[in-house]
Amino acid sequence: MAFSDRFLEDLCARNDIVSLVSQYVSLTRRGGNYVGLCPFHNEKTPSFNVSADRQFFHCFGCGAGGDVITFLMRIENLDFPDAVYQLAERAGMTVPENDNEVRVQKQKKDRILSLNRDAARFFHTMLQAEEGKEALAYLAGRGLSPQTIKRFGLGFAPDSWDKLLKQMTAAGYTKQELLDSGLALPNKNGGIYDRFRNRVMFPIFDARGSVIGFGGRVMDGGEPKYLNSPETIVFNKRRNLFALNLAKTSRGERMILAEGYMDVIALHQAGFDCAVASLGTALTQEQARLIARYKSEVVIAYDADNAGVNAANRAIELLKEAGVAVKILRIPGAKDPDEFIKKFGRDKFERLLEASEADLEYRLVQAQGGLNLEEDEGRVEYLKRAVKILCEVSSDIEREIYLTRAAKQAGISAEVLGREVARARKGLISKRKKEQERKDLSPLTAKGSPARELKYQHTKSAVAEENLISLLMARPEFMKQVESRLEKSHFSVPVFGKVYARMKELHSENSAFSLTALTRDCTQEETATLVGIFAKFVGGDTVALEDYLSIILQEQWKIKDIDSETALQEAMAMFRKKKGTGE
Ligand code: CTP
Ligand code: MN
Repeated sequence: MAFSDRFLEDLCARNDIVSLVSQYVSLTRRGGNYVGLCPFHNEKTPSFNVSADRQFFHCFGCGAGGDVITFLMRIENLDFPDAVYQLAERAGMTVPENDNEVRVQKQKKDRILSLNRDAARFFHTMLQAEEGKEALAYLAGRGLSPQTIKRFGLGFAPDSWDKLLKQMTAAGYTKQELLDSGLALPNKNGGIYDRFRNRVMFPIFDARGSVIGFGGRVMDGGEPKYLNSPETIVFNKRRNLFALNLAKTSRGERMILAEGYMDVIALHQAGFDCAVASLGTALTQEQARLIARYKSEVVIAYDADNAGVNAANRAIELLKEAGVAVKILRIPGAKDPDEFIKKFGRDKFERLLEASEADLEYRLVQAQGGLNLEEDEGRVEYLKRAVKILCEVSSDIEREIYLTRAAKQAGISAEVLGREVARARKGLISKRKKEQERKDLSPLTAKGSPARELKYQHTKSAVAEENLISLLMARPEFMKQVESRLEKSHFSVPVFGKVYARMKELHSENSAFSLTALTRDCTQEETATLVGIFAKFVGGDTVALEDYLSIILQEQWKIKDIDSETALQEAMAMFRKKKGTGE
């Protein structure tokens, strides 16, 4: 990733963070800052801050933070180069020629996308051809109309080792490109062959409508049932959803989340064009956030089996975290939405949808799993589980409603259950309060902060390092006072050492200390941590600077004394290695 510092500076200067964030979050002015509801976690009172003069954002609730590039990466689910390209476009800038690596990468991506699109067209054509007859009959047999087949661009991969290969090579794609796209696999003799053979093909589109990968289904009972494209430079399974390109423009505030491609297609055909599915894996946090960008409510319509229930429970958590309201659909008399619609029709499904339950109700029903409520033992266990679920509910009314319901289920009085819940809730609140107090004392281990991994081994030095870095960030001219006396290796927290080394570099080049430049070699989490620290920083003078410096240098010896010589050497070696790999 080789954008020049100068270009990135320019890019950030021409993309004001307040104006970019405003496109996603409604911001209110507060002093020199702007605040709003954090788009990265669910909250009711704004703890999301954007600093206009320092050009960074920071959420005091979840710890997210960074510059204008980080923000776009997170909100649009982009990787670094893609975010840079979008910002360049937004500011009407061209990415300079000498940023070659990135340019080449971008060209490579475009080639793979174009290859995927051509392959999808080829598969689709094959479905109408003589050899695709059986596949077409299969899809028709599953109730899909010609319009649906067209809408989803379904296709057929012929039963051949090289049919796609030949076509695509003739169209000018190279062997390497075929391998990179995942459409071909290498054989032992240095040749390649078609990955997808004799399968019905489901192209997978990203939100913008590019073909990023494929799923291929067998038409008999063969294994595996689905074969999917591997992860490639354009196909990230965690960050995309099947049919999102269609569902994102559906009317209303609701998204339906199903398990299978076939469910999604059946749902769309039945008029529920807000259905999506994850891509052969459990729902991820990225996908939950992606959904939250388009809709505010999700109805989970997973398969009726145990696996579906477990998957739903996990999905509920992720979706709620992302800030969408969650409902769960129970599918009676059928194994999945596809079968239900086929058996009972779309209107019945519509009713199911209307009757879908809030997640609380669902979880309470789940809590009965494996228990016999006719027996005391089962009831006691159920109540224990119910108390645990209910004491977490913060709305009094909601808690009351579900409490009454749970009590009825277990056949005990609501008063008794109410007392238990109240007690548990009191305990929970005081536990949270204690946690909060602890957090306030050592802000760096804040719960929910992506930076919570950052545990200080040597607190005294670490706090001084934190302050020193913040002070230098605010007053770069102080650099000359410490530069010759302080080295990267003096730091006990690697990320501070790393940033300090960057500061030295930038200072010697007479470049500004922007967040972008400083965090060039940092991970998103590290950047968020740093922003969190900068955001808290109250300022200081050269006297403070001397204090921090002497603490760091003093503590350094103590640390070395404590840690055995070898451990230190090991750590250094590892650090060097990491640096060497460009991490
Ligand atoms: N899946 C997969 N690989 C498999 C099996 C399943 O990637 N070997 C993924 C696919 O995304 C599939 C989803 O898991 O769509 C759900 O699996 P399943 O219920 O078996 O498939 P359906 O799409 O419902 O297909 P069908 O109705 O044809 O059984
Ligand atoms: Mn299924």
